[in-house]
Amino acid sequence: MNVKLDPWASNDIEDYEKLLKDFGMDDMGKYRSKYSDLRYLRRGVIFGHRDFGRIDEAISKKRNYAMMTGLMPSGKFHFGHKMVADEIIWFQQKNAEIFICAADIESWLMRDIPFEQAKEIALKEYLENYVALGLKPKGVTFWFQSDYCKEYYKLRDMTAKRVTFNELQAIYGELTPGKIISSLTQAADILHPQLPELGGMKPVVVPVGADQDPHIRLTRDLASRLNAVRENSMRDLECFPPSATYHKFMQGLQGGKMSSSDQKSHIALTENPSEAIKKVMGAKTGGRVTVDEQKKLGGEPEKCMIYELYLYHLIDDDRKLAEIYASCRNGTLLCGEDKKHCAELLERFLTDHQKRKEKAVSQVEKILEK
Ligand code: TRP
Repeated sequence: MNVKLDPWASNDIEDYEKLLKDFGMDDMGKYRSKYSDLRYLRRGVIFGHRDFGRIDEAISKKRNYAMMTGLMPSGKFHFGHKMVADEIIWFQQKNAEIFICAADIESWLMRDIPFEQAKEIALKEYLENYVALGLKPKGVTFWFQSDYCKEYYKLRDMTAKRVTFNELQAIYGELTPGKIISSLTQAADILHPQLPELGGMKPVVVPVGADQDPHIRLTRDLASRLNAVRENSMRDLECFPPSATYHKFMQGLQGGKMSSSDQKSHIALTENPSEAIKKVMGAKTGGRVTVDEQKKLGGEPEKCMIYELYLYHLIDDDRKLAEIYASCRNGTLLCGEDKKHCAELLERFLTDHQKRKEKAVSQVEKILEK
């Protein structure tokens, strides 16, 4: 059966290899050792890409390029979101110009979030956490979709002119006016850094979850159409098709989807550490039914949410992670002890992070000044 990707539904993707094949994404494996300083890349969490070669070249030759991504301001900033933030920060450290857009039109159209609330969430939940995780204000352009600056408006209208209804239907399946506006707005977001007013044509990388691929495919098609020279030898926009990297999703603490609307499925970065510890203690693991059985058969780290927390966030040292993996597998490390260890790491992380977040407010103001 073919995998379906719907940016507005919960995607339970099980087979990421198949996704690469079905959608013609490229395997990220080639870049794993070159960019091993990004944990998600080194560990295969970022599994696929489109046109990353253009970005690799810009990084290697120290050329001008940009990272663009958007955030959906719909709730608490949790460990699933932290992954995108870490990617943004990594590109900033690799000298990318940074463009971040708060998708308040999308969150209003698709999720009924009032604009005022979206604004509050974007600043307090997202930007402050980004800064606390290491984002520097210098070189960051941030905007709300609803800002409607002149050039941005023009760009969205240009995309509307270069795609047909049938093409959108082929990409997204069942359409609504809200979906059409959201997807063309997102294409405008992604092309935005290449506007002449913002320095013109440049390689742009969009780090996203695999569910966003329909938007990436649409935008890449639109980019080549906007870039086509017309009879009057005019182009709509001189631009490269955007590059993208695709990451896997963390699962929820109880298994299933991690979602900001389900408290029990996630740990927010602003969560009281003692509450967070309770969630860790109640999380789904890869343990067996009885202790005896686990000692005999060993646990299954692949199915364990504690292990996932280590893999994505809490343990950067590959050797340490491998040790935990091995001692879980051979039945010497039991879930109780392991959860306690995870709780300690988590408590330390949250306490430090929350202190940094308190100091982030003035940096966020700097980002907004521009
Ligand atoms: N649709 C994205 C989400 O649901 C948010 C988004 C809006 C976005 N504009 C973007 C992501 C541009 C990447 C690039 O999370």
